[in-house]
Amino acid sequence: MSQPSAPSPAEAAPLSAAPTLRGLPVIGMAGHFLRDPFGYVQRLRGKGPLVSVHIGAYRILYLLDPELIGQVLLRDARHHVKGIFVERSQALFGLGLVTSEGELWRRQRSLMAPAFHPRAVNGFADRMNHTVQAVVGAMRPGPHSIADEMNALTLRLALEMLFGTTIGGDGPTVSRAFTVMSDYFSSAEELLLPTPMSWPTPGHRRFHRAFADLSRVVDRIIAERRARGLASGPEADLLDLLLGARDEQGQPMSDAQLHDEVRTLVLAAHETTAIGLTCTLFLLAQHPEVQAEAQAELDALGRPALPTDPLPALDRIFKEGLRLFPPVPIIFREPTEDVVLGGYRVPKGTTLGLAPWAVQRDPALFEAADQFRPARWTPEWERALHRFAFFPFGGGPRVCVGAAMAMTEARLVLAALLRRFRVGLTQNSALKLFPAITLRPTKPVELDLQLR
Ligand code: HEM
Repeated sequence: MSQPSAPSPAEAAPLSAAPTLRGLPVIGMAGHFLRDPFGYVQRLRGKGPLVSVHIGAYRILYLLDPELIGQVLLRDARHHVKGIFVERSQALFGLGLVTSEGELWRRQRSLMAPAFHPRAVNGFADRMNHTVQAVVGAMRPGPHSIADEMNALTLRLALEMLFGTTIGGDGPTVSRAFTVMSDYFSSAEELLLPTPMSWPTPGHRRFHRAFADLSRVVDRIIAERRARGLASGPEADLLDLLLGARDEQGQPMSDAQLHDEVRTLVLAAHETTAIGLTCTLFLLAQHPEVQAEAQAELDALGRPALPTDPLPALDRIFKEGLRLFPPVPIIFREPTEDVVLGGYRVPKGTTLGLAPWAVQRDPALFEAADQFRPARWTPEWERALHRFAFFPFGGGPRVCVGAAMAMTEARLVLAALLRRFRVGLTQNSALKLFPAITLRPTKPVELDLQLR
């Protein structure tokens, strides 16, 4: 029997008939979002496969059904672009891999993909482990500002592995710049009254100062490599690939493009992994019994973990951390023509919000959805899980290019930390997060590390 065909846009129900969260006149749900973003996300659950939300100057259609998410990210990816929110974040990323579209994106992705392939990541995993062991070995027992320390470590690793450079004194500059710029995108100013970035508002001025600081670091990274000369073949790292690339006319990448790609990767490569590690460590501090299981696995090795060691308990823990606290809380898309989603006609240009933060905590998909239960991640359970019920790295052609690097990095950092320390809470421990471009702690995250 043939499948009934999906309705055409003309036959589908109008989007105005879809479930809607309106909130207050004019600002809509913006007040809820700014005051209590986690509560805002929780309100989306149970509304059905999709829900339309009015938030400040924007209207977002959240997709909450893994089938619809798969339709947009994978099956119908060619009819969707990243859209308005990502266009505004071009002020931060330029036209690097995260924000570019079409032919430019395709060319740059195929150029860079080899540097992120799991084989390439395995090739530098021992070096990465060496840095991780040295950093963790130098950490002292006592209270730690974990989010800041994870940020510094993942930034150092990204710069060493991708660009073959040391961080020098630039770590705090990069972290501060990213904080200022990404906070801007979820500020009341941006949500309620978005204005061109060239207007001299206080928020824009802060943004531009942070951008200039970051650009100086990027210039240094590029100038250093040009002075040293390029490597080729298996020795080549990402920066060699970018600097050595030639188009059909034999022309190198323009300086502006090169600058955008390096800036994009400096930012994309560290903040996400750091927040994934921070939240996972916080969950472990709250759950000593889970921590003990991972430590038993590490102790059984009788030596520091190597990148090739199977560590199933540790891998389950990090996945569960990414489920509860996906570092990219919302992925945005816009259809480039009218489409049908969940039986509704969705006009071209509608902002679609695909929120791992909501879907990965949906009680219809996960038993005890808000609880930290790494034991759920058995191979059979994972095989039965819908591909788009758990999508912290996105999916389809624009899936995170750095996923293998992030997973390797996270297991090496967790392995080194848990082998040496017992992670606990202090009186000041709190995990308050705000969904900017990435989930970001609004206050330092303090955890106690005691030698085992
Ligand atoms: C736990 C850590 C990470 C998480 C959760 C994460 C998440 C994501 C997500 C959800 C996307 C897709 C966004 C979209 O479709 O709109 C993405 C894209 C991307 N990520 Fe990651 N990421 C992580 C680590 C990394 C690392 C380590 C790197 C670099 C080394 C990286 C570089 C990128 C780039 C360049 C893109 C754009 C890819 C493209 O559009 O072709 N990410 N990431």
